[in-house]
Amino acid sequence: MGRIAYVNGRFVPQAEAMVSIEDRGYQFADAVYEVWALFGGKLADPEGHFARLERSLSELSIAMPMSRKALTLVLKEAVRRNRVREGLVYLQVSRGVAKRDHPFPTTPVRPAVVITVSAVDRAASETRAAKGVGVVTTPETRWGRCDIKTVGLLPNVLAKQKAREAGSVEAWFVDELGFVTEGGSSNAWIVDADGRVRTRDTNANILRGVTRLSLLDVIREAGLEVEERPFTPADALAAKEAFITGAGTLVLPVVAVDGKPVGEGTPGPVATRLRRLYIEQARSTAI
Ligand code: PDD
Repeated sequence: MGRIAYVNGRFVPQAEAMVSIEDRGYQFADAVYEVWALFGGKLADPEGHFARLERSLSELSIAMPMSRKALTLVLKEAVRRNRVREGLVYLQVSRGVAKRDHPFPTTPVRPAVVITVSAVDRAASETRAAKGVGVVTTPETRWGRCDIKTVGLLPNVLAKQKAREAGSVEAWFVDELGFVTEGGSSNAWIVDADGRVRTRDTNANILRGVTRLSLLDVIREAGLEVEERPFTPADALAAKEAFITGAGTLVLPVVAVDGKPVGEGTPGPVATRLRRLYIEQARSTAI
């Protein structure tokens, strides 16, 4: 069965789905997006993703294209039509279509909405998590508003390509003070020598990961100590464990940084446990 996309009010075969060449998302990256993990056909961490979508849109003065309730129905209908149970839902909202001109259109335009759904092979993801992945470091080159989830992702694209060419799956951006900000499409974590779980605070120029936020609760409920404080690549190499989080990766153990092993060079017990606990929690609260 071919995939079905939602484009501006219509469900269409994805191969035939089209947006205007004057869509401001296409010309200026004047658009935001969200990605939900799907468990059993349901949206994971719904509240966190809707809240961040509303915030990203509001920071760019783009109107919510429809109410949260209506959007939930459309997202769920997209999932149903694609018959995907385990996967990802991608939503993009651009400012809309207008004659090319940098400032906002003077006559209001309707935000343009695109939704796609893709399947994920959870068994393959578990195999990958059981092995762990490598990350590479790369200088932070992004703009100062990484808290807004915009489609302007060229530095992330280049960083992740660098990772792929090194046989790794993620790149960690490192700021001018030598601290890891976050990954190209994930948040970065370590478990330090004292067993404390650490991730960068959100006063830094990073995306406020929804998986990150949910996992903070999971960690506290599991009785582990956690602190929101920056770390360097050297801290990661001296740590017991490292991992990344995101809607695509969930909780994924990191076993090497720039080709050097973290801890034993295999997934550690904390990351492995947190992956299981997060997935259980996300499955049971998905809508
Ligand atoms: N990326 N940091 C960046 C730069 C990201 O792009 C993402 C998510 C995250 C993790 O956020 P969350 O836990 O809300 O997924 C952190 C999505 C999955 C993507 O670009 O495909």
